[in-house]
Amino acid sequence: MQINKIGENVYQVDNNIATVNLTPGVQVYQEKLLEYEDKELRLWNPRRSKLAASIIKGLHTFPFKKDSKVLYLGASAGTTPSHISDICTEGRIYSVEFSPTMMRDFLDVSALRENLLPILDDATRPTNYQHLVEKVDVIYSDVAQATQTKLFLDNFKLFSKEDTVGILMIKARSIDVTMKPNDIFRQEKKNLKEGGLKVIEEIKLDPYEKDHIAFICEKSF
Ligand SMILES: C[S@@+](CC[C@H](N)C(=O)[O-])C[C@H]1O[C@@H](n2cnc3c(N)ncnc32)[C@H](O)[C@@H]1O
Repeated sequence: MQINKIGENVYQVDNNIATVNLTPGVQVYQEKLLEYEDKELRLWNPRRSKLAASIIKGLHTFPFKKDSKVLYLGASAGTTPSHISDICTEGRIYSVEFSPTMMRDFLDVSALRENLLPILDDATRPTNYQHLVEKVDVIYSDVAQATQTKLFLDNFKLFSKEDTVGILMIKARSIDVTMKPNDIFRQEKKNLKEGGLKVIEEIKLDPYEKDHIAFICEKSF
């Protein structure tokens, strides 16, 4: 087995990627665990996490550092947030999820991870949780909703600093099933630009996720 370090707490394991498990012995979504030197690695499944798919497809901008503060919109049961929690061991991941059912599962994950902070709220209403969240280094959004770009921009306005990096996962079919995905991607990129953001990288997520794109953005000045 070939194992190489590719980033802070991120490893390549043959053709897969993995993070260093912050909670050794504990799985989040039945992912494989393996011992490596003095650590335990958790395989990071690109079919379950769009961030893993983006990395495997060559993501160049990787803004997650050991001490990063992250606002995560659409935390669901915590699959991707748990890997970010493995990476940002000294940071904080403010994790917004509006489904009480998903939040119940998320709480099982966050109970064991001090850097994962659950917020049961609607990401279309960022002023609701403004008192709980500081300005962050990274805003990550994966909500699969028709208004996904607008809610990302609204959160960016409230919680960004000069150098905040935004990662927006767009699911074309959540916006319009009748339009061609490429036309939707063009339209949403224009919406980001009109909202004051510059797309610095874009990655289509097939074959892991059909008709999805990751937009990596920063403020345009
Ligand atoms: C595609 S799943 C997210 C998967 C997760 N990001 C991961 O990779 O582990 C989308 C999630 O966004 C949540 N969601 C959708 N709209 C939302 C909103 N307005 N506010 C908060 N959460 C929302 C859904 O309940 C769902 O759990």
